[in-house]
Amino acid sequence: MSKAVAGFSKLNKQEKIEWIAKEYFANPEEATNLIKKYWNSDADLQKLHDEFIENTITNFYLPLGIAPNFNINGKNFTIPMAIEESSVVAAASKAAKFWSARGGFKTTVLDTEKIGQVHFIYKGDKSKLESFFTAVKNKLIEGVSTLTQNMEKRGGGIRDIVLRDKTDALDNYYQLHATFNTIDSMGANFINSCLEKFAEILKSEAEQHTAFTEEEKQIQVVMSILSNYVPNCIVRAEVSCPVEDLNEDKNISPEDFAEKFITAVTIAEKEPYRAVTHNKGIMNGIDAVVIATGNDFRAVEAGVHAYASKDGSYSSLSHATVENGIFRFWIDVPLALGTVGGLTSLHPMVKLSLEMLGKPSAKELMQIVAVAGLAQNFAALRSLTTTGIQKGHMKMHLMNILNQLKATETEKLKAVKHFETNTVSHAAAVNYIEELRKENSEKQTVQ
Ligand code: MEV
Repeated sequence: MSKAVAGFSKLNKQEKIEWIAKEYFANPEEATNLIKKYWNSDADLQKLHDEFIENTITNFYLPLGIAPNFNINGKNFTIPMAIEESSVVAAASKAAKFWSARGGFKTTVLDTEKIGQVHFIYKGDKSKLESFFTAVKNKLIEGVSTLTQNMEKRGGGIRDIVLRDKTDALDNYYQLHATFNTIDSMGANFINSCLEKFAEILKSEAEQHTAFTEEEKQIQVVMSILSNYVPNCIVRAEVSCPVEDLNEDKNISPEDFAEKFITAVTIAEKEPYRAVTHNKGIMNGIDAVVIATGNDFRAVEAGVHAYASKDGSYSSLSHATVENGIFRFWIDVPLALGTVGGLTSLHPMVKLSLEMLGKPSAKELMQIVAVAGLAQNFAALRSLTTTGIQKGHMKMHLMNILNQLKATETEKLKAVKHFETNTVSHAAAVNYIEELRKENSEKQTVQ
């Protein structure tokens, strides 16, 4: 058991590393060396990363892969993806290529509304609160003008504030429910700053409101915070083609493929156990681009899964139909993203990713991210309903197994060749490498 530590954040980086190495590791020197091995040799770059968070000791790498050949609304994109899962980038690239030969992806941003709420307790007459709110609404909006003026210049700002009665859920519980347009920023800081100011104005105006009793004047603000549930910040991505064009797999007819594919989507629409995994596959694509572009993947995840449950049962985010011989597959997904602010101009890899995407606006990024999700879902369902996913997945995972076995470059080349025609499994890879090494040592003994 390690000792509790006081004043840890005051220690410098070296001292923090010494502490963690000494307290938690059997071999402190080895742990220290590993921590330092992951430092960037460019001291300024390392300092930049150190200062993103508190108590940084080193960096934690994720691969940044690229998926080319995405045709989105007639424009070609190569999409950056930061992800550790072996098969994701390959699957995205495959789906991109498949659909670029069939008209590409079409996208539409349906709305970009962001939401924030001031949650408060008011003990009194509801109609008096309503008249108070009507009287004070403009003061709330004017009170944040210094915060909103820049956003307004860019075409955004506050859309509306409404008073919501939530007393059915909790005694005396009301909200100021505010909606915003934050243009190219994700807007969390802007929204939270506005909300905290609304709360301050709400309280002070209530204290001076002569129609209120003494108790009614004492509005208790519980908290002011944006909502990551953004059901009106929605983008649609879709693909479609004549059924007969779903003709890449020689083992299944296009008609059978379309039917099986739609059944698989319907299962995810109806069955929560399947829907969660189905949507996880979509998030493989979405998160990878969200991370590469410096956006908050936790916010996106929370919002997406809430949206997937909006009708009372967790369901698929994507849908598919065949009508008049046309196969259509689409996704509606809530994505609150930014291409300015946050890490976007700070993290060099984020800047690189955004430049790779042509420096998109937030709306354009929403479309690209939704496409990555749909492509991933298409690739997963295509494998699941035809060959099964393990074949492709294990092929991609082979390199991880070989690295675990500390295979040399020659062994890797031989193993990759061997498993082109043999089924990959952990045990099969271990056997193969063991056999290879046995053969080699026998050869050496003979020589
Ligand atoms: C694995 O990361 C994702 C899948 O399970 C998605 C799915 O089942 O649709 C393959």
